Amino acid sequence: MNDSEGRASQLLADDHRELDRKFEVFQATPVSEVVSRRERFDRFANDLRRHIEVEERLLFPIFGEGDRSRRALVDRLMEEHRRIETALEAIRHRLDAGSAPTGEGETELVNVLWEHNAREEGAVYPWFDTHLSTDRAREVTQDLRSSAPRQKEA
Ligand SMILES: [Fe+2]
Ligand SMILES: [Fe+2]
Repeated sequence: MNDSEGRASQLLADDHRELDRKFEVFQATPVSEVVSRRERFDRFANDLRRHIEVEERLLFPIFGEGDRSRRALVDRLMEEHRRIETALEAIRHRLDAGSAPTGEGETELVNVLWEHNAREEGAVYPWFDTHLSTDRAREVTQDLRSSAPRQKEA
């Protein structure tokens, strides 16, 4: 990835910060504003799912290739992705039930996500600064910025 496009690690960490910001916007919305809370949560959850999908499709396979300890780290990160998705589902179900409190699901999500993001930023993303082709970097950038998450093939 060349300098004019910025470093991959920075782009990905910036996406984490942007997601944090969207989650904070959701959390700051009063429980009585049922529709806004739901919309803000969906915005955050869709973008987080897209981030996860991009990592699993474009980044993790290269990172884990041919190295047992990197492969083990990818397995752990993917497991965390599934926990994140479960927490998102739990919050979504509570929101579907109207003004039901979502605090427990939020705590679970924050706990998994904080450690997960720190692990990626410390042990995974910097590797991509020297191991990502320009074409692949462009694809990552485009797909992170696209407005709709790609659907996983059934
Ligand atoms: Fe991740
Ligand atoms: Fe990430």
